Amino acid sequence: MNNIHVEDAETLGRKGAIFIAGQILARPEGVIGLATGSTPVGVYRELARLYESGWLDFSRLITFNLDEYCGLSGSDENSYRRFMDEHLFDHVNIRKDNTHVPDGMAEDLQAECDRYERLIADAGGIDLQLLGIGHDGHIGFNEPGAHFPAGTHVAELTELTIEANTRFFDRSEQVPRRALTMGIGTIMKARRILLLASGSDKKEILQRALYGPITPEVPASVLQLHPDVTVISGV
Ligand code: GLP
Repeated sequence: MNNIHVEDAETLGRKGAIFIAGQILARPEGVIGLATGSTPVGVYRELARLYESGWLDFSRLITFNLDEYCGLSGSDENSYRRFMDEHLFDHVNIRKDNTHVPDGMAEDLQAECDRYERLIADAGGIDLQLLGIGHDGHIGFNEPGAHFPAGTHVAELTELTIEANTRFFDRSEQVPRRALTMGIGTIMKARRILLLASGSDKKEILQRALYGPITPEVPASVLQLHPDVTVISGV
């Protein structure tokens, strides 16, 4: 595991973006897995800047987002599709049909999960998966539980996650209770992983995830078993 410590949020954004830029330069037609939440926002800002400066070309890149809330359409201001458009996709020359986010409005949610898994496999798998971490150790929306979920599935959000994500909504009742998320198996199949964690409130869970027992009670602890993980943390 490659551990990079940073002093401030700006550096986290810069180093995260440089890491991803290296992957895009090495394989411009490659596949990148993306994450939402406040942590990657600085990374996306820097990637957009690198594009504007002419250093990066997104025209052949394929992306898959980790997750999406059930019941929110892509145009809803709280949907992860809208988040990605606003923070990255609308600022670079990526083709929208090459960007994938699970459809939280699908009538048959399980069929949508199966379709999403197939799309990732058909694209040749994920070269680099970007991850944040929740306060309970969740990655994507894989919450603590009795086992590590394998594929993309419908997840019930825990009270802690609903509470943490309430800041993006007006009221906690508006936070969807379910989401579609890549499974732990989907994430572990990515060839490389970049995990970002910022803030003193993430310090303890990050320690448990990286150095504690590997257990589905701390979903991110499974990353200890992955052969190519870089962690950028601090602040
Ligand atoms: C949400 C997302 C996760 C993200 C987490 C932490 O639950 N589904 O992918 O890692 O929030 O978000 P933040 O970076 O805002 O702390």
